[in-house]
Amino acid sequence: MERERFKKRIADLTEQINRHNYLYYVKSAPEISDYDFDMLLKELEQLEKEHPEFASPNSPTKRVGGDITRKFETVTHRYPMLSLSNTYSREEIIDWENRIKKLSEVPPAYVCELKYDGVAIGMRYKNGELVQAVTRGDGTAGEDITTNVRTIKTVPLKLHGNYPDEFEIRGEIFFPVENFNKVNQERAAAGEPLFANPRNSASGTLKSQDSAVVASRGLDCYLYGIYGENLKFKSHSEAVNAAGSWGFKIPDTAKNMIAVRSSIDEIMDFIQYWEKNRSDLPFEIDGIVIKVDEYNQQNELGFTAKSPRWAIAYKYKAEKVETVLNEVTYQVGRTGAVTPVANLQPVLLAGTTVKRASLHNADQIEKLDLHLGDFVYVEKGGEIIPKIVGVNLEKRKASHGKIQFIENCPECGAALVRREGEAQHYCPNEYHCPPQIKGKIEHFISRKAMNIEGLGPETIDLLYNKGLIKNYADLYDLTFEQLVELDRMADKSASNVLLGIQASKNIPFERVLFAFGIRHVGETVAKKLARHFKSVDKLKAAGFDELISVDEIGEKIAVSIQQFFSDEKNERILEKLKSNGICFEMDTTAETSNTLQNQTFVISGVFQKVSREKLAELIETNGGKNTGSISSKTNYLVAGENMGPAKLAKAKQLGVKIISEDEFLAMISQ
Ligand code: IVH
Repeated sequence: MERERFKKRIADLTEQINRHNYLYYVKSAPEISDYDFDMLLKELEQLEKEHPEFASPNSPTKRVGGDITRKFETVTHRYPMLSLSNTYSREEIIDWENRIKKLSEVPPAYVCELKYDGVAIGMRYKNGELVQAVTRGDGTAGEDITTNVRTIKTVPLKLHGNYPDEFEIRGEIFFPVENFNKVNQERAAAGEPLFANPRNSASGTLKSQDSAVVASRGLDCYLYGIYGENLKFKSHSEAVNAAGSWGFKIPDTAKNMIAVRSSIDEIMDFIQYWEKNRSDLPFEIDGIVIKVDEYNQQNELGFTAKSPRWAIAYKYKAEKVETVLNEVTYQVGRTGAVTPVANLQPVLLAGTTVKRASLHNADQIEKLDLHLGDFVYVEKGGEIIPKIVGVNLEKRKASHGKIQFIENCPECGAALVRREGEAQHYCPNEYHCPPQIKGKIEHFISRKAMNIEGLGPETIDLLYNKGLIKNYADLYDLTFEQLVELDRMADKSASNVLLGIQASKNIPFERVLFAFGIRHVGETVAKKLARHFKSVDKLKAAGFDELISVDEIGEKIAVSIQQFFSDEKNERILEKLKSNGICFEMDTTAETSNTLQNQTFVISGVFQKVSREKLAELIETNGGKNTGSISSKTNYLVAGENMGPAKLAKAKQLGVKIISEDEFLAMISQ
């Protein structure tokens, strides 16, 4: 029923918008205001996002001028773009290799490659021509940046030689250091702010709306993987060489940029060679990637949820510098958690100027035994925020006083508390401490929660300071007049905010639950709770025992949920959200059922119609359990193409029913 309603509304909106477009562009006789037109369009966009199955390929959301067509289109990857697990030591590589040897019948050969520090790209070629280039995005879907990628000279637009009819090739686009420096020199001369580092600027450049800008920067690209149906290659090294013969830029064997190796010692030689010589390369690398070469063996090993078992990254140790600790300040987050921040004498570290470093909590300060004015060692690992890893005690002066953690909230003055067993200090003044109030509102509107576009931290700040909003439910009282009065808020932006707020009424229950900002209730927990309880009322009424009976809900979460609902202020906020039409119930007509209750599934291989993620979601939304490995408890193995023979054999041995993607889809459509 509900689905029918969505379908009809999408069709109605499409027709109305097409008609208004015609009246506006062709007849020059519009019947409605731009504002009303935008309202229709936004609503359609939102509905199409939630129900892409009802969106027409000729939907007006895809062709209207302005913001929408300027954005890149989202494309679902045919093969998810996973990441690699990272290692930092010889021991970890040995552990990985031992696991591989145990799982493979024959000792494998490995390909060692450079880990290019850039932006992952997936490029599809059909009949020898580049048809689409998509960013990694969240791994399931990315942005179509074909026009920009076409400008990169080393990406072939037309292939030569004996290439397959259709395939996808993946690689890394990066900013060669020389070109990066040249662009920065030009920017300095023009008085423009400098780019921080080659990786971030490659990523920023690729998102440029003007492909001429991309062309002028001189980006480059190396390839590292080929995907497709019925490809003839037996190994990764064979595929890479073939790609070279079709016109792609592949790493040079003669320069030791890629090598087939068969022992740990040989792998470590490769790692050490590049650790020593990496600064001679014309581009940045952040490590080495080691891959099992034979595809048969790769298939046998398969994947974990996040990364292939057949490959691993060895990351080089972060660069370390010394600087002075000038001051420790404290930040208060939306949950009231107080985080100390080290304010440092600015210092250059791995291409960026570092002024601040996170100190996490009081224990961290204690462990480092930090004194004000200390000379500290700062390191930048994989994460963006640098950290202090030690103190140069030789340079400590007697006048350097030990840092004492604050006792009162720097924002509202309340006495801080530290709960038993927790490392973090908290400000308990949840409803009167400004950063907590604003932080909760920011969380509420964030993309993965209510996704209200057009409102950022600055606007929230203004609205809060003017007394227009005191909690997230107050957003639904905002008027156009109130918004346009704000600094730097034009008519169009104010309308967009209102449209965003309006559209948030279509956000499904599980995301609403996440948006509430209940402590310890992240995205996954919110989903589990939503599926189990199906409405705010039922969740609120649930006793402690019922809460902890839900899969993955422990005591800490249960206590936090009960605290949240027993608070009168929250009760009033929720009442207001409810009366504004926010979704407080699961849409039970759509996509959820108990069809697969008590059935355990394993998914393996590559699928045609739906991605592995979607399959996993379908199993769960229909009441089944999705697990990673086959055991006597497994009921079904959903088998795709290129499935590992070891898994298949195990399924057969244990008598697990093996079904195809179509058979699975048929099971849930009944
Ligand atoms: S293979 C299943 N090879 O590192 C993943 N990745 O954390 C297969 N990267 O997203 C990736 N150089 O963007 C591979 N020689 C290389 C690479 C490489 C850089 C990036 C890639 C990926 C990330 C993995």
